[in-house]
Amino acid sequence: RTLSSRSVEAIAEYIKDGRPKNIVVMTGAGISTSAGIPDFRSKDTGLYANLARLDLPYPEAVFDISYFRGKPEPFYVLAKELYPGKFFPTVAHSFVSLLDEKFMLMKLFTQNIDCLERRAGVPDDKIIEAHGSFATQRCIECKTEFPGDKMLEAVESGEVPHCFVPQCNGLVKPDIVFFGEGLPDSFFQHKHLPSMADLIIVMGTSLSVAPFSVLPQLAAEDTPRLLINKECVGDFGSRPDDVVLLDDCDSGIRKLADALGWRDELESMWSE
Ligand code: OAD
Ligand code: ZN
Repeated sequence: RTLSSRSVEAIAEYIKDGRPKNIVVMTGAGISTSAGIPDFRSKDTGLYANLARLDLPYPEAVFDISYFRGKPEPFYVLAKELYPGKFFPTVAHSFVSLLDEKFMLMKLFTQNIDCLERRAGVPDDKIIEAHGSFATQRCIECKTEFPGDKMLEAVESGEVPHCFVPQCNGLVKPDIVFFGEGLPDSFFQHKHLPSMADLIIVMGTSLSVAPFSVLPQLAAEDTPRLLINKECVGDFGSRPDDVVLLDDCDSGIRKLADALGWRDELESMWSE
C-alpha cells in the first residue's frame, strides 16, 4: 500500500513528500457545473433530462452523428446555449493549472467541450480533449474547415451552417465527438499515460462513456487514485490506494488545497 490512509490528507502528504511528478487528471462535465454549464446525466439538472423541447427520439440523439445528418437543428439550439465565451473556469480547473505550474501535471484528459481548461491556463500541450471541442469546426462531408467567425454568426443567428466548397454544401459541425464517431488521434496516442502516472485524479464524471471510462483502470495497481465527485463511479474503491471524496468538485479541491497548504495560491490563481 502506498498511502498512509484512504483520505485526502494522505493524498496531500503523498504529494508533499515530493513523489508524484506525473499526475494524470481526468475530468468531465461535473467540473463545469458551478460555472453554469449543466452536466449530462444528473437527474433533474442534467442536459439529457431537459431536452423535451427539442422533441428528440432519445436525449443522446442531439449528439448522434446519424441523427445530426438528418436533423441538425436541435444540436444548433443547444450549441447556442453551450457555446464557449460566456463561461469562466472554476476553482477545480485552476487547481489543474496549479499542478502544471508546480511541474507535476503529466496530462489532463477531459471529456468537456467547453474549453475552460485552456481558459484556466492549462497549456494546450497538456490537454487531451477526448471528445473534441468547440474550438474548430468542419464540413461533415468533405471535412473542409469552416471559419470561426462565420460559425459564431451562425450559432448566434440560430442558422445551421453549411460548407461553402462549391457543389458540397455539406453540414458544418464543431469538432466535438458525436456518438457514432471516433475519438481524436491524440486520445489514442496518449492513452498509455495513465499507466505511467504516479497519481490519478478523477473529477466530475460519471465514467459512463467508453473508451474514456477505462482510463482510470489503466493506472498501475499501486498508483493512488483520487475521485472527487458527487457519487462513486467506475471501479473506484476497489483498490487499497483509492480515495473517494464524495463532494462538490470545488469544495473537494479546496479541501485538498488546504491539506497541501496551497489554498491561498489556488484562490489567487482562480481570481486572476
Ligand atoms: P455526466 O453528466 O455523465 O456525469 C457528471 C458527473 O459529475 C456525475 O457523476 C455527477 O454526479 C457529477 N457532478 C455533477 N456536478 C458536480 C459537482 N459540482 N461536483 C462534483 N460532482 C459533480 O458527464 P460526463 O461524465 O462528463 O459526450 O459525460 C461523459 C460524456 O457523455 C460527455 O462527454 C458527453 C456525454 O454524452 C459526448 O457528447 C460525446
Ligand atoms: Zn464540404
